[in-house]
Amino acid sequence: MPGTSRPTLLDALLQAELDDLKERQLFRAPRTVGSAQGPVVTLDGREVLLFCSNNYLGLANHPQIIRAVQAAAATWGTGAGAARLISGHMTVHEEFERRAAQWLGCEAALGFGSGYLANLGTIPALAGPDDVILCDRLNHASLIDACRMSRAKLWVYPHGDASEVGRLLSRAQAFRRRLIVTDGLFSMDGDLAPLAALAEAADRHEAILMVDDAHGLFTLGEQGRGAGEACGVLDRIDLLMATCSKALGGYGGILFGSRTLIDYLRNRARTFIYTTALPPTVATANLAALELIARQPELRDRLRHNGERLRRGCQRYGMPIGEGRHQILPVLLGDSGRALRVAERLLEAGVLVPAIRPPTVPDGTARLRITVTAKHTDAQIDQLVDALHRGGQAEGLW
Ligand SMILES: Cc1ncc(COP(=O)(O)O)c(C=O)c1O
Repeated sequence: MPGTSRPTLLDALLQAELDDLKERQLFRAPRTVGSAQGPVVTLDGREVLLFCSNNYLGLANHPQIIRAVQAAAATWGTGAGAARLISGHMTVHEEFERRAAQWLGCEAALGFGSGYLANLGTIPALAGPDDVILCDRLNHASLIDACRMSRAKLWVYPHGDASEVGRLLSRAQAFRRRLIVTDGLFSMDGDLAPLAALAEAADRHEAILMVDDAHGLFTLGEQGRGAGEACGVLDRIDLLMATCSKALGGYGGILFGSRTLIDYLRNRARTFIYTTALPPTVATANLAALELIARQPELRDRLRHNGERLRRGCQRYGMPIGEGRHQILPVLLGDSGRALRVAERLLEAGVLVPAIRPPTVPDGTARLRITVTAKHTDAQIDQLVDALHRGGQAEGLW
């Protein structure tokens, strides 16, 4: 029986690697949350303030959505039973895709099992050995994995450097396709990709622009249409990917594009074809959240307010924070051990913000990645800033 006998040779090899990770302060283990998501959660039996969730609009535990899911479970049951192209494609999957595309103002949308799967399915379906992909150095791991899986030539450009993208594209005319791939709102840095300049470069060199806006869609822009809307170039993005697991508070990935693109991906994206459809309850939660967001722009206003309050608080104490002006704020500490120690002090003060270390971020850029949600109060944000100020002071950082 696996895991019940004496340690194997494999265990010994793996243990050596784990010991090495521990020595370099890079070992990871989950903490167990014993309550629903919200500004306050129970952690190991104690209430703490949560400032590391992507539940940006507070919809992961919303009474209206919970009621919709309860009704869906009674009607549809709990599992989809098969892949979408077999018999798992239910009315609610179709309705969510139709409503999401309508809300964004594009022709069509395709749901995936997760955001990770959306990227892993889409990029290799579009690019292969005859193509080149230009990938921002700080893109999310799922984009990087998808680029590698595609077997296209991969050119990594310095973070946010649209001029370099233009230069690289001018040397890329021999390739069959040229694909620019970028996060919209960067997940660990909280800054926006230079989408207007990237769209310009894509037009000039007949390249395709794909934006992963997992963090920006539903939160940024006047209508919540994300980084593309905030940069004024939504209609110049060829493929827009997002996830339902962050601002929507549910689960699943979604890819927006033309009708032709979506028909193509339904036939070619392996992570769409060869996996079971999302449970109908989850698709219902995503749909209910979308309806709610469309009716409640004040959630985005509050999120913006909270992001600004956090930034101002950190600036007041001269903390080394990132450039972004949105709901993700990195406090850059450099060394992994230092980041772990400050995170530990925060937890002692009743605030959960884990240290983010390599390989999630480049070597030497360990940080606290703070996220606010629309549900945090001013007092809770002030409490975080105060705890951070005291924690950093105790470590001699500011
Ligand atoms: C930029 C980005 N893309 C993709 C994903 C993957 O999305 P999901 O959690 O739905 O798999 C994430 C989040 O984890 C992300 O931050």
